[in-house]
Amino acid sequence: MEAAGLEFPDYNRLNPDCLTTGSPSKRRSEGGGIMEAIAVFPGRHEVKLIEHEPPRISSPTQVKLRMLEAGVCGTDREISAFQYGTPPKGGDYLVIGHESLGEVVEVGTAVRRVRVGDLVVPMVRRPCPYDTCVACRSERQDFCYTGDFKERGINGEHGFMTEFVVDDEKYMNPVPYELRDVAVLVEPLTIAEKALAQVWQVQQRLPWSCPVVPAAEKAYCHRALVLGAGPVGLLGAMALVTSGFETYVYAREPLPNPKASLVESIGATYVSAEKDTLEKLAERMGNIDTVYEATGASRLSFEVMKFLGTNGIFVFTGVPGRRGPIKIDTDFIMRNLVLKNQVVFGTVNAGRETFETAIRDLATFKKHWPDAVRSLITGHFPMTSYRDLLLGQATGIKNVISLES
Ligand code: BGC
Repeated sequence: MEAAGLEFPDYNRLNPDCLTTGSPSKRRSEGGGIMEAIAVFPGRHEVKLIEHEPPRISSPTQVKLRMLEAGVCGTDREISAFQYGTPPKGGDYLVIGHESLGEVVEVGTAVRRVRVGDLVVPMVRRPCPYDTCVACRSERQDFCYTGDFKERGINGEHGFMTEFVVDDEKYMNPVPYELRDVAVLVEPLTIAEKALAQVWQVQQRLPWSCPVVPAAEKAYCHRALVLGAGPVGLLGAMALVTSGFETYVYAREPLPNPKASLVESIGATYVSAEKDTLEKLAERMGNIDTVYEATGASRLSFEVMKFLGTNGIFVFTGVPGRRGPIKIDTDFIMRNLVLKNQVVFGTVNAGRETFETAIRDLATFKKHWPDAVRSLITGHFPMTSYRDLLLGQATGIKNVISLES
């Protein structure tokens, strides 16, 4: 299996005496010493700060990263609530964290893609081992057929909320130094980028093919509704506006609020669910060409699907918890799907190209809306704040854990 080349500390053979819930007094030391990590023990229902040996490069194509930052997302919180997430095989815990930024501190002898000192955002998914999986064998494990892929910090591989990581260079995406302050947003942005790439592919079915046009010349196929004003929704709104969509963001919080101001500052329209019903929103928007769902709320999403326009595309990006069945008007939805040529698809991130697009677009967003992009990051917190960030009330937009000592 490709991922077998990875060398990672053997957390599962840790001396339990090394585990600690407190704030370890010893700090990292490059190459030797110990390092800290935020780990979830699903069987014991515990979330802890642990200490262990730093990983070492063991193959010529590996690189070693000093982790600088990790973003906290809904998935991390779900894993910390023991609803999701799987430790590496044979282990009883998972080091979490998949949205990250690292600095290359060491490279194997055959490494060509990155150099010591480079900033990089590592990809999350690792391929399944089967020769028959054309997706994984084509390095598109985001489309894996077998379901036996791994995801660092989520499913079967330890993640990035730690001080050092070793991994193959092929999973590294270099980012320019100018993006140092916001690059931790690259991974969540890949969700929108992969969604948009597929929206364009679907739009190719229309003879006029919905070309990307400057915002001033919006044409058919360019009216988008974003559901949710979390980081994935707001980054999606930025990507849609940049691609020439007239963009509306529908979210819970009543007006005025900071997210609404951010939405307005990028040239999109914020609509509060407190004030406007979906009927009113649909009337205001006219033909809804694209719905980009970023809430993980299935009930709301299927309600909104009723208002999807002719030739419209509905993109699901959220992974809902299992809250039990809901009642939906399937006849109505199916009639619309057929009679209005609608397409519904789900998307999970992401391949290398998508990461590269996200890095380029983040630079564009930062150029157009520096304040809006920076304000997506609510704050930087030390590793010792993990309890509040993972188990406390969700606050702000994107909370980031600083992993530098
Ligand atoms: C991550 C994806 C991952 C998905 C499902 C998301 O939070 O960004 O990389 O595939 O969770 O595990």
